Amino acid sequence: MLFDCASLSPENTYKLLVSTIVPRPIAWVTTLDAEGRPNAAPYSFFNAMSGSPPVLCIGIGPKREGLKDTGENIRRSGQFVVNLVPESAAAAMNVTAIDFPPGVDELLEAGLTAVPSTHVGPPRIAESPVAMECERIAVVEVGHGRAVVLGRVLAFHIDDACVLDPVKCYVDTPKLGLIGRMHGAGGYLRTSDRFEMPRIALADWQDKRAAD
Ligand SMILES: Cc1cc2nc3c(=O)[nH]c(=O)nc-3n(C[C@H](O)[C@H](O)[C@H](O)COP(=O)(O)O)c2cc1C
Repeated sequence: MLFDCASLSPENTYKLLVSTIVPRPIAWVTTLDAEGRPNAAPYSFFNAMSGSPPVLCIGIGPKREGLKDTGENIRRSGQFVVNLVPESAAAAMNVTAIDFPPGVDELLEAGLTAVPSTHVGPPRIAESPVAMECERIAVVEVGHGRAVVLGRVLAFHIDDACVLDPVKCYVDTPKLGLIGRMHGAGGYLRTSDRFEMPRIALADWQDKRAAD
């Protein structure tokens, strides 16, 4: 069935996006407002875009005037922290998604612990096993009150218990216990359903084709 975006309402276009692009990792973003108060909120329009330099992107929607608080804080200050969400902090993450007025400290509301960052002003979340300190590269306007933030990762904080080899940078990914966003208003998944599929070298593929 063809769904042409030219004849779809914004609501239906959104439904097609979020019910097909799954799973989505969740950026649990901490920023500071203009008075220096912490702000936290989850964003699942999120992913890594480049390895070197390390670049990630976050899609931010509208809120009354302009972008949601996270977007306006990043636009103004240029700094943010992307915390990743373990299942143990899922309920707290959900509290930080409540549409609080600007100036409310979602970390306090959710009973979370703010830890000072090393390179940027916004704190990281202690309950998160991975936090990435970031600086803004660009805020790209993609529609009315909608923007994509591109950020450069300056530093990673990873829970000591989840680091297998600090020299080789091997991480015990299953131990992070991260969750992702799925379809439906309250759909999530665990990242424990994994299978192996080695990459195929071109020479091996050509040998296989020749033998067929
Ligand atoms: C799991 C999850 C993922 C979300 N992803 C997004 C997203 O990608 N973009 C967005 O604009 N809002 C998203 N939201 C909604 C925001 O988190 C919510 O509007 C929040 O109140 C924004 O807070 P802020 O204004 O402090 O930034 C998401 C909510 C949840 C629970």
